[in-house]
Amino acid sequence: KVGKEENLRSPICCIMGHVDTGKTKLLDCIRGTNVQEGEAGGITQQIGATYFPSENIRERTKELKADAKLKVPGLLVIDTPGHESFTNLRSRGSGLCDIAILVVDIMHGLEPQTIESLNLLKMRNTEFIVALNKVDRLYGWKTCRDSPIVKAMKQQSKDVRDEFNTRLARIITQFKEQGLNTESYYKNKAMGETYSIVPTSAISGEGIPDLLLLLVQWTQKTMVGKLRYSDEVQCTVLEVKVVEGHGTTIDVVLVNGVLHEGDQIVVCGMQRAIVTTIRALLTPHPMKELRVKGTYLHHKEIKAAMGIKISAQGLENAIAGTMLYVVKPGDVGVEDYIKAAEE
Ligand code: GTP
Ligand code: MG
Ligand code: NA
Repeated sequence: KVGKEENLRSPICCIMGHVDTGKTKLLDCIRGTNVQEGEAGGITQQIGATYFPSENIRERTKELKADAKLKVPGLLVIDTPGHESFTNLRSRGSGLCDIAILVVDIMHGLEPQTIESLNLLKMRNTEFIVALNKVDRLYGWKTCRDSPIVKAMKQQSKDVRDEFNTRLARIITQFKEQGLNTESYYKNKAMGETYSIVPTSAISGEGIPDLLLLLVQWTQKTMVGKLRYSDEVQCTVLEVKVVEGHGTTIDVVLVNGVLHEGDQIVVCGMQRAIVTTIRALLTPHPMKELRVKGTYLHHKEIKAAMGIKISAQGLENAIAGTMLYVVKPGDVGVEDYIKAAEE
């Protein structure tokens, strides 16, 4: 029997796709936030991280009446930019995740960065779910706010359903041209061989319950081994940022293990490895974006998976995209970590 008592960490889900398909807006819809409208030019330019506690996911999926028994503490979602110039950030994001959501605009079908994202996922054998977003743009769409998608689809006119089916069929063909079998999730009997498509609207919320439920069910069903909590810290630096009152901080994703205030850490620096001590372990409130300025919660310790802001001395030259190491007392000497950080 698997349960929280068996100590699973939260799965990490990365959102990927072409620019302006609605990745950030989907997260805004789930969070009840407005991050996207605050972005310069409406373009995401950094990796983001948001933690969704399992209570919130359960609440959001309850209309589906599935046995959404959540065995994981929550879900950590990584937002990535879709603009063509940020291939490195997409690669970094996809390298951290257990599962991904590939967002496709139903009006546009597969686009260049959809295919690039697809190739990153294939390269690492990462499972993913397709969110076929902006269904509300189908001509004559009747809003069914936050409704499960099958229920919303039943409310639509024949014309809307016809247009939906035509566009869906075209997109399934485009995936086939990329060597992938896809099918709408409510018809997909062979998950694992055939990738699931969940129609969504980030504006009116249709399909969001389905997307969340599928994500959690799929990760719990297939990745329990991978999600086992370990004491070995696995942690990647996302960004190096100056924050008022905290000096230079690093935003990290803790993939596994635990971090404590006062831990001695080693981080890659421009000239040499930086050896320092965690002064403060900060997170945004649950359901808030790490990359957006806000109030932070202080923690004595944090378990994976989580997006965390670390305040410590001497982080000015830290390098984003590299690993963070924790020096364990009585373990190998700090020199070994420094060597690892400088490799
Ligand atoms: P990048 O991060 O810059 O790659 O873009 P993104 O994929 O995060 O897309 P974003 O959330 O910035 O949305 C792009 C535009 O599409 C915004 O104007 C959104 O309001 C709009 N949009 C996103 N999702 C939907 C949707 O489901 N329906 C409609 N009608 N518009 C949407
Ligand atoms: Mg975005
Ligand atoms: Na955008």
